Amino acid sequence: MTNPVNNNQDYTIKLTNKNFNQLSSFINLNFGIKLPEVKKIMLQSRLQKRLKELNLTSFQQYCDYLFSSEGQKNEVVNMIDVVSTNKTDFFREPVHFDFLANKILKNYTNTTQNIFKIWSAGCSSGEEPYSLAIILNEFAQYSTNFQYSIFATDISTIVLKKSVSAIYNEDKSNLIPLNLKRKYLLKNKDHNKKNVRIIKDIRQKVKFERLNFMDKRYNVNEMFDCVFCRNTLIYFKHEIQEDVINKLCMNLKTGGYFFLGHSESITNMNVPLKQIQPTIFIKI
Ligand SMILES: C[S@@+](CC[C@H](N)C(=O)[O-])C[C@H]1O[C@@H](n2cnc3c(N)ncnc32)[C@H](O)[C@@H]1O
Repeated sequence: MTNPVNNNQDYTIKLTNKNFNQLSSFINLNFGIKLPEVKKIMLQSRLQKRLKELNLTSFQQYCDYLFSSEGQKNEVVNMIDVVSTNKTDFFREPVHFDFLANKILKNYTNTTQNIFKIWSAGCSSGEEPYSLAIILNEFAQYSTNFQYSIFATDISTIVLKKSVSAIYNEDKSNLIPLNLKRKYLLKNKDHNKKNVRIIKDIRQKVKFERLNFMDKRYNVNEMFDCVFCRNTLIYFKHEIQEDVINKLCMNLKTGGYFFLGHSESITNMNVPLKQIQPTIFIKI
């Protein structure tokens, strides 16, 4: 006998192969993210939210809307928000933060009064650029005249909004060493709300902008001492990774440092970088 109150029904709207191919080619071409056949279910589940919000009942309707001129203007931004993978953490891959503090900054001589600049490219919800700002701020407290700034970019507007708010779940902040946590995080005055906020002095040091790695050229007019581009290129094809690294290097000073994520490399790429340690490179 069937149960009249069946809450286990599957209301998932199915993504056909035809619509999957249309969407994955569009995403790959415009955002670099590769979506092979094995990612079909993932794409289907991530886009359910968009279909629901738009009151659509099939992926064909979604594609018709997305590829219309109105959809190109209004929906592409929302689509990439749900399609991009934004996993991140404070002080993720700590070896990079140790290297910054103990190798780069320790040997940094500030003779020119230049501002020390880092680009966090693919910054997600801000944990990476704020971790960098904390390290630089610690250094600034013991070095006279040391000034710094962080530029942080991402394609997803949702994560950029979260970055600017700088409010995080308290659990997430457990990855920040306790002494730094006490110094750089504010607790919510309402103790029922388990969230923390990065202090204003640090927030003010980080500038967030939307930037698509697939743009022909990045309209960035600054030169950086370090570029962090970690756990982002892994979603791109080899030749696109190479192209993005070359474009990022145009804004990296000669002798500046480039950081990739733990599972990324520059093997077989024609890029102006020399490896000095796994995932850490210097611009030549
Ligand atoms: C997994 S997160 C990595 C965050 C951080 N760098 C880290 O290592 O923790 C990858 C980020 O790359 C961004 N991204 C993906 N495609 C992009 C593109 N075409 N242009 C710019 N950012 C992109 C995503 O939105 C996402 O926030």
